[in-house]
Amino acid sequence: MTEKKTVKIATIGGGSSYTPELVEGFIKRYQELPLGELWLVDVPEGKEKLEIVGDLAKRMFEKAGLPVEVHLTLNRREALKDADFVTTQFRVGLLDARAKDERIPLKHGVLGQETNGPGGLFKGLRTIPVILDIVKDMEELCPEAWLVNFTNPAGMVTEAVLRHSDFRRVVGLCNVPIGMEMGIAKLLDVEHSRVRIDFAGLNHMVYGLDVYVDGVSVKDRVIELLSDPANTSFVKNVQGQGWEPEFIRSLNALTCAYHNYYYKMPEMVKKTIETAEKEGTRAEVVKRLEDELFELYKDPNLAIKPPQLEKRGGAYYSDAAVRLITSIYTDKGDIQPVNTMNKGAIASIPYESAVEVSCVITKDGPRPITMGDIPVAARGLVQQIKSFERIACEAAVEGSYDKVVLALTINPLVASDKLAKKIVDEMLEAHKAYLPQFFKTKKVAA
Ligand code: G6P
Repeated sequence: MTEKKTVKIATIGGGSSYTPELVEGFIKRYQELPLGELWLVDVPEGKEKLEIVGDLAKRMFEKAGLPVEVHLTLNRREALKDADFVTTQFRVGLLDARAKDERIPLKHGVLGQETNGPGGLFKGLRTIPVILDIVKDMEELCPEAWLVNFTNPAGMVTEAVLRHSDFRRVVGLCNVPIGMEMGIAKLLDVEHSRVRIDFAGLNHMVYGLDVYVDGVSVKDRVIELLSDPANTSFVKNVQGQGWEPEFIRSLNALTCAYHNYYYKMPEMVKKTIETAEKEGTRAEVVKRLEDELFELYKDPNLAIKPPQLEKRGGAYYSDAAVRLITSIYTDKGDIQPVNTMNKGAIASIPYESAVEVSCVITKDGPRPITMGDIPVAARGLVQQIKSFERIACEAAVEGSYDKVVLALTINPLVASDKLAKKIVDEMLEAHKAYLPQFFKTKKVAA
């Protein structure tokens, strides 16, 4: 009898507080995805957290009675060797860097947020060189593996891999689409499995072009529900404020939580400043939450994902990630929204660019479903963000100061080139340790 091959997964940023989510997902889907080895990788600064979360992961598999080996390592190459899937959930510069991404723009009256505006740009500049290094290692050590990237800004990071490497087995993943489906299922009081949305757009800039219950469109009803302030955000970290009914009716598409930053810019900046003054920026709040979570994780009697983790914005991440990995592994052919190469699915976005779109998931990865186009009222904004992402990727790869200023100036959340430059200068200095490509010492001519 031939032994059944088990799956090896390497998770980069394995010391993250989100790891128990992922482990819970592997446990739930073990029958379809026979996980044999889970390698949790982190950097030396994350060693303590890696050990705490790694021990919890071991207890969770043990309690579930599953023979999964959990390996903890600071050696990425050892973890990548012969992996079948690589998931990435790392944060260059940890939460301190995120706090700077949020605080510095706010001082200038500009939105401080981890994936949008200046914060998203700088998180991208710090992350892109690292992801391109990981891809190089994967080409050498596990060329058949799929990279499932959850590291933010997930859209920009996927764009960077598609445009600045030859590696094609990459999928960007976000919990916003699954969160929208679950939120709408709740509003309609139906099971999540009965709801499907046609997604089209970019990460954190995704629209629902239609929504179905059991295959029948319920879009008009959902659009009506979305003008209620209570219903405009389905993630914990973005406080939606409710759309004007005229706006949402005539846009005639479902919005995601992050659209609040673009269609309600002054109100959201004001609210973010007020919240930062009262309780700290989101990174500062999350830091406190993490301390609480890691205290719980240390308890040797804990062997499940604690419910407190649901206070984080990344809820359902495990469902999205493990559902995707399982469908690639089993060649399932189901429909899931992911970030992948457009290949003509959305008419007004370049063929080679990363888009967030509903796809059929097969062993060859995601096959984007042709969506036609984004509504004309939203098209310009989506294209603008795509241009911002592309220039940001070039800036990150080339270490080009001019391109960083250009990227931020064309970002809709920043109103002028002068202001963009001021923020760029401050943020470059603040993040110097993690942006070596911008601080190369000049060669002196001989
Ligand atoms: C949302 C986003 C994720 C993001 C998370 C932040 O779910 O989709 O991209 O990472 O929120 O949550 P946090 O709890 O860290 O603010």
